[in-house]
Amino acid sequence: MATFATFKRLKDKGVAALKQRDYVEAKPYLIQAAECMIELAEENKDAKQRAEQEDYAKELMALAKGCDRKAKHGGGARRDRARDDEDGGPSAEDWIVKDKPTVCFDDIAGLDDVKLQIQLKMIYPFRHPELAQKYGIDVGGGLLLFGPPGTGKTMFAKAIANELDATMFVISPAQLMSKWVGEAEQNVRKLFDAAKAEEKAIIFIDEVEALVPKRRGQQSTVMQRVVPQILQELEGFDRKAGRALLFLGATNEPWALDSAMMRPGRLDAKVYVPLPDAEARFKLFEIYLGDRPLDDDVDFAKLVAVTDGYSGADIRAIAARSASRPFLESVNGGEPRNINMADILAVIEAMPPSVSPKDVRKFEQWANAAE
Ligand SMILES: Nc1ncnc2c1ncn2[C@@H]1O[C@H](COP(=O)(O)OP(=O)(O)O)[C@@H](O)[C@H]1O
Ligand SMILES: [Mg+2]
Repeated sequence: MATFATFKRLKDKGVAALKQRDYVEAKPYLIQAAECMIELAEENKDAKQRAEQEDYAKELMALAKGCDRKAKHGGGARRDRARDDEDGGPSAEDWIVKDKPTVCFDDIAGLDDVKLQIQLKMIYPFRHPELAQKYGIDVGGGLLLFGPPGTGKTMFAKAIANELDATMFVISPAQLMSKWVGEAEQNVRKLFDAAKAEEKAIIFIDEVEALVPKRRGQQSTVMQRVVPQILQELEGFDRKAGRALLFLGATNEPWALDSAMMRPGRLDAKVYVPLPDAEARFKLFEIYLGDRPLDDDVDFAKLVAVTDGYSGADIRAIAARSASRPFLESVNGGEPRNINMADILAVIEAMPPSVSPKDVRKFEQWANAAE
């Protein structure tokens, strides 16, 4: 079982090796640390923390990937020294996370009207550029996904990239702030240059409120320099040049976001990603329980009825925890058995929804006001 101590040991070893420019040594530690972090994330009840841990794991994986390239270019050799950041961290290429996600709209339960909105605004104009031009419809643009944690916003952003067959560039506030990045402005420029070189690109900023908080005082000095630059790059992006750029943000705290970010040309379209309704919860149980061995007494309609207020991430966790009950029993020598209704109900009983009704009302109010 993953523990934080194990994670830290692996990560420290990986980072120490990176600093020594021993990329061959660093890579397996970074991968193991990332895997350990993924396990910790899966066990975490707090959806926000879990998302952070998943992001962190992704960053470690990106660092690990960067090791291959560096090792090829004579990693460990002293002549690399001049090209790297002074503190021995990875260069801008490692900071730019290019992603070709594989998750698609069909993997996402519910949110049909959200999918439709995205198709209208983003997917059809990309797929039919001549028609879009004929009717004077801009290709690309900005879109803010907002809603409670664990409702699939990050997943949705990836699915959009996949549906569009676009390369996704991820700007992670955590990465921007991390000590690895010495030359933040330069890196932002490189990121936009790389995006412009693609025929279709998505620039995705997850937890965008961390980058552009309402109260500037909460912003680090790096952000105070870099955010205006990001906005400027966005405005300078030539939308009519046939190259399409989609600027996508996601937030669990839309009210903490500076309204400057929502001006025309920025994240000007907003889409509410709510908690799953009954139909979506049914699909979520199908997705996350469907492929596991289930007892005949498992009643999806009943599960849907007792999980009003639970998020998609909550339901995924319910499925994983329910499966671990018979699994642990069989590991301890018991006869392998199916997951039954009692397992699942016990897990639900012990696990309240991660989003409170009070918070849901706050989102609904913000959504209505934003219309
Ligand atoms: N509507 C959904 N359909 C399928 N899976 C979902 C859905 N919502 C959440 N999940 C599951 O929960 C995980 C966490 O969701 P995430 O996209 O990180 O939520 P958010 O970004 O809104 O906080 C996803 O990776 C997915 O496994
Ligand atoms: Mg997220």
